[in-house]
Amino acid sequence: MNDMSNFWSWWIIVIVAIIIFGSFIVLHLTRKMEDNGEETTGHVYDGIEEYNNPLPLWWLNMFYLTLAFGIGYLFLYPGLGAYKGYLEWSKESNYQEEVAEAEAKYGPLFAQYLNQPIPALIENEQAMDMGKRIFLNVCAACHGSDAAGAPGFPNLTDDIWLYGGSPEKITETLVNGRNGMMTAFGEQLNEEQITQLTSYVVSLSGRQAPEQEVAEGGKLFAQNCVACHGADAKGNQALGAPNLTDNDWLYGRSRKVIARTIRNGRQGNMPAHQEILGDAKLHLVAAYVYSLSNK
Ligand code: HEC
Ligand code: HEC
Repeated sequence: MNDMSNFWSWWIIVIVAIIIFGSFIVLHLTRKMEDNGEETTGHVYDGIEEYNNPLPLWWLNMFYLTLAFGIGYLFLYPGLGAYKGYLEWSKESNYQEEVAEAEAKYGPLFAQYLNQPIPALIENEQAMDMGKRIFLNVCAACHGSDAAGAPGFPNLTDDIWLYGGSPEKITETLVNGRNGMMTAFGEQLNEEQITQLTSYVVSLSGRQAPEQEVAEGGKLFAQNCVACHGADAKGNQALGAPNLTDNDWLYGRSRKVIARTIRNGRQGNMPAHQEILGDAKLHLVAAYVYSLSNK
């Protein structure tokens, strides 16, 4: 610990000690044990005098008890500056204990499931329950509790995959994460060209678009887009480049959204989960995702 925080730590300790000790002194000096019945404080309001009677004993004792509790608490638990408390309790150690308990309870079960291939695991109801619970805790915030996704977050319940839906590809996605890299074309192409490309993209899944724009857009597509989306525009799972012919949209089907993707690019990010989950939970949740489109 450096000098500065050491100073503030003692600063807090001294102030707390003064407050506790001070409360004790004040309580002790102002307490009055005997009731002599007649004594008044000397205050008179509208002819009514104020008696100076002692505090009830139980009331006084509550004050002492509160002080004793405070001292005991500060001795056992962190509270006095940087002092960790006699029990060295912390949220961290508390959490670690709970984790260790859960490991002891579920560890053997996890180990058993880890050795089973994903296609076999999806037949196991208990394993799928566990996988679902992990999904709800860790993945649902982005993919939705029904795994149906949202704009920018892929639907995991259908047969359409950015990176592939085999057990191996799903596992790979979870272990390393994924970064979609759709280049921004707003600098190199003008708005007219972006409109033409949009018309071409829209036409790929069978929608109406001005013929002239579709023709010009097709040429631009061949020059700028086929490297990733493929000459047939059916995408490339090695890059996570979506199929543009299937009328299934990661970001949205409107011309406006498509034009925005071409102009600004997109960088969808799926975080790596190996360290967050560990092997066994990762395997279970991968199996759960696989089960969503294979049951
Ligand atoms: C912070 C948000 C976030 C979290 C949390 C998250 N994902 Fe994702 N996930 C994404 C995004 C965004 C993509 C799409 C990446 C891209 O656009 O290239 C994605 C892609 C995927 C894919 C690839 C889908 C495909 O079509 O190939 C799978 C599988 C997947 N996620 C499963 C999971 C699972 C299982 C979890 C929980 C363990 C999880 N994700 C947690 C945001 C998230
Ligand atoms: C460097 C590779 C690359 C190039 C070049 C590229 N794209 Fe993409 N494109 C991607 C990737 C990867 C995604 C998915 C982005 C994500 O996951 O966030 C994507 C997404 C899209 C989408 C969104 C699809 C949806 O389902 O919402 C459209 C539309 C699109 N690209 C059109 C184009 C057009 C038109 C061009 C040429 C002007 C082009 N792309 C060039 C890689 C590329």
